Amino acid sequence: MARKKVTIIGAGATGGAMAQRLIERDICDVVLQDDPQFAGTMHFGKALDESQAAAWIGFSSRISATDGWDETRNSDVVICTAGAPRKPGMSREELLNGNATIVRAKVSEAAKHSPNAVIIIFANPMDAMCHVAQKASGFPRERVIGQGGALDSARYRYFIAAELGVSPMDVHGYVIGGHTDTTMVPVVSQTRIGGVPLTDLLPADKVQALVARAMRGGAEITELLKVGSAYYAPSAGTIAMAEAILLDQKRLIPCSVLHQGEYGITGVYSGTVCQLGEGGIQRTFELPLTAEEKEKVVAAANATKELVKLIQD
Ligand code: LAC
Repeated sequence: MARKKVTIIGAGATGGAMAQRLIERDICDVVLQDDPQFAGTMHFGKALDESQAAAWIGFSSRISATDGWDETRNSDVVICTAGAPRKPGMSREELLNGNATIVRAKVSEAAKHSPNAVIIIFANPMDAMCHVAQKASGFPRERVIGQGGALDSARYRYFIAAELGVSPMDVHGYVIGGHTDTTMVPVVSQTRIGGVPLTDLLPADKVQALVARAMRGGAEITELLKVGSAYYAPSAGTIAMAEAILLDQKRLIPCSVLHQGEYGITGVYSGTVCQLGEGGIQRTFELPLTAEEKEKVVAAANATKELVKLIQD
């Protein structure tokens, strides 16, 4: 049986971190795709450097780099990280048309060479970039998915865990809605720690502070890094999604998906809890939201709809 293959487009900090996380799981070959005008020969350097880690880390899968597309042919999963990251003080939305041009070009090539792949979009503003990618690929909603909720939920769970002194793995909570500082929706009403509602463990003002910090999670990192945006937690979220698809794990991970009636929303990419496995999205789940949470989820989808209207073809 041939090994599965994942193409990671963009060999920057994020693409490099993703490549490392993925190849070290030893579940697929990895191709790092980039352009000489952006990356020089960096993608070849990263692939070779990581290949040489195999003896000590213990993996047999192969990682290679390419300037072109032939080597990406018939990938099972394509992750698109290409695009500019935001700088301190910038919103993700400000990247809209610059990144749309890049994502459109990259995804149409990738889709041509891997017509059955599941595409995971990482570039910001992520929900809007999913629209660009879906149009450029012509793929169904099951196979064009956005990474946002996985990352935002990880941040939310981390902040809660740190506050309570428990493992983040035992904090169960989801962030849905948009992947922006203002439209993400941490679903407090359904957050449980060892089965206990978060609201029973912490006072409301504390919970609100954690929610606010999670929503600004990406901005906080850009302010600290100063040169770009986060990549360790983002790569962890994306690779959890890729692994679930490659191994048909059927994991429930919040992702950006083209809504077809979820929460009464249709025709727009937004975050919701998705079952990920072979073929991409196998099912979506609607959380039992409070009226206020539901309103925020609808507002997030509407904000993305407005943003998508500003994309120039
Ligand atoms: C973040 C960027 C990658 O949230 O969207 O860190």
